[in-house]
Order: sequence, then structure tokens, then C-alpha cells
Amino acid sequence: MKNVNTSFVVFSTLLALGTGLAHAAPDWSKVPKRDVHVFSPGVTPIEWLMNKSEHSGRAGLGKGESCVGCHEEKGALSLDFKRLASKELEPVGAPKTMSFPVGVQASYDKENLYIRLTFKAPVDASAKADKEDKAPLHEVKAAIMLAGPKVAQGAQIGCWATCHSDVRSMPGADPKKKKYVANANVAEGNYFDYFQWKSGEAGVGSTQLDGHVAGERVNKGGQALVKAEGENNSGVYTVTFTRKLSGGEADLALAEGQVIPFGVAIHADKTVHRFHHVSLGYTLGLGASADIKAVK
Ligand code: HEC
Repeated sequence: MKNVNTSFVVFSTLLALGTGLAHAAPDWSKVPKRDVHVFSPGVTPIEWLMNKSEHSGRAGLGKGESCVGCHEEKGALSLDFKRLASKELEPVGAPKTMSFPVGVQASYDKENLYIRLTFKAPVDASAKADKEDKAPLHEVKAAIMLAGPKVAQGAQIGCWATCHSDVRSMPGADPKKKKYVANANVAEGNYFDYFQWKSGEAGVGSTQLDGHVAGERVNKGGQALVKAEGENNSGVYTVTFTRKLSGGEADLALAEGQVIPFGVAIHADKTVHRFHHVSLGYTLGLGASADIKAVK
């Protein structure tokens, strides 16, 4: 009996080697999970946050405080969701579910970073919110944005560095203008790297993208994303990204010991553009302590 087991183990190890150990997914049951809450941000671009009469947090941001420092308490968001859903901050139409938790797990090895997101996607976006209007329809999209080392206040403000009042779907904005980073410079690290999984519809047409946000958002060209996979079990999504530690020009090169500011964005219920649920800015540590510690 013992012999049989041993040879089975040897056989499966060889099999794993044969099928490409390069992306051997981790045993997720052993990887710590932390909930990050995403919320519907309405029209609160960085210009709004930096306007003292709109957002009293502006002064704290100037002193180095982070969004999370003021708006997260004991793992829950301290934000006024009634205000966020009101005409003042969401003139078009807010979803019923203003906020929901996303379980985040991360792990890495010599070649790859693995991130797994687990969440129940709401299906109650406002009928007026911008939605997918062409096939294939994506019921859900899940994205991770990693801040480059030179993004101004990157660790404090997270994805808000790319969120501006003149970006499409903001009131009165140019419908073609995509999100961007001010004074972006890819070579110097003032940009965001990002990758996304898109569900397709009813399990058909799922796809992935590997891009970045610099002077404008570019939905292609990344060479680091090996694969993005997702599963929908009665509305509970499990999305797993396998990303090489380093890739091409606009792929942030990651290394053990590094702490990278990042954010999560979920487009639920076929929404597009700003009608997503987003996280505040958190940090991801590769074997280093951070909000989310990727384990080896
Ligand atoms: C120094 C503390 C502080 C910091 C840092 C801070 N905020 Fe705030 N924020 C507040 C306070 C206080 C309010 C509520 C009153 C107001 O708007 O002035 C608020 C309100 C908001 C609101 C509107 C909903 C509500 O609860 O009224 C949003 C959205 C928001 N903040 C997002 C952010 C984001 C995103 C960041 C980081 C880029 C951030 N805040 C940084 C203190 C802060």
C-alpha cells in the first residue's frame, strides 16, 4: 500500500513538472484571506477629494494620511453610503448594493504572483448606469491595478490617482476620454499596471486583458499576465490571476520583499466605465508585511 502511494506521488509530481511547473497554482486553502470592501464611488474623482469644501479629508491627505487610514475601521468601511447614493454624489443612479466584501488572497513563487478574489457580485445596478451594450456582454469584470513607484501619493490615494473629473461617464465629460495619471511616465514608474478578468455571458466569452494606465488607459500590450480564470457559482465569483513577476515595458517588475500599492475594481451587473465598485488603496507585500501579504 505504501509503495502504491509513493509511486502515485512521484507520478503526479512528474506530471506537474511535465505540464509546466511555471504556473503551479498554490493550495488556496493554505493562503490567508483578507476581506477588502469595494464600494460604489459615485462621482468622487481626485479633484473632488482635493476640494476642501467638498471633502474635509483633503487636509489629512496633505499631511500624508491615506484613504484607508480615515475610512476603514476594524476592517469595515466608514463611509456615508446614503450620501454616496444621493443625487449629490451619484446624479445618474446608484446600485442597491453600495458595498460588498471581496476576499483577497495572494501568493508568489520564483516566477509568478497569484492573486485570488472571491466575492458575491450584486445584480442591482441602476437601470440608468452605463452598461455593456454589445456582444459579448460581460456580466462581471474584476480588475487589479498596481501603482508604479513614482505615482504621486500612490500609497495614500490608490486608484484615485487615475480617477479624474474629465474622464468619460463623469458628468459633462468627453465620452472618449479614458482614465489617466497626471504627468505619467512609464519609464520612470509614474503609471499603473493593470489586468482584468471579464466573465462573458452565461459562462461563454470569458476573456482577460493586460494593460496599463499612463497618459491614458491602454487595454493591451502587457506581457506579464499568464492567465486570468474565473468561476461563477450561483453568483459567487472566484477569480484567479497568474502574473509573471516581470514582463514587458509597462509591466511593473515585482520582486520579493517589495510592497506595492494596489486597488481592486469590480464591474458587476454588466456595468462599464465609472459604474464599478472599487476598493480604497491597499498594499500588497511579496513576502513583506502589508495589508495583503503574498505568501511564498
Ligand atoms: C484625514 C481623513 C480623511 C482622509 C485621508 C480621506 N478622507 Fe474621505 N472623508 C473624510 C471625512 C471626514 C468625510 C466626511 C465629510 C466630508 O466629506 O468632508 C469624508 C468623505 C468621503 C467621501 C464621501 C462619502 C462620505 O462618507 O461622506 C468619500 C467617497 C471619500 N471621503 C473618499 C476618500 C478617498 C477615496 C480618500 C483617499 C484618496 C479619502 N476619502 C481620504 C476624511 C478623510
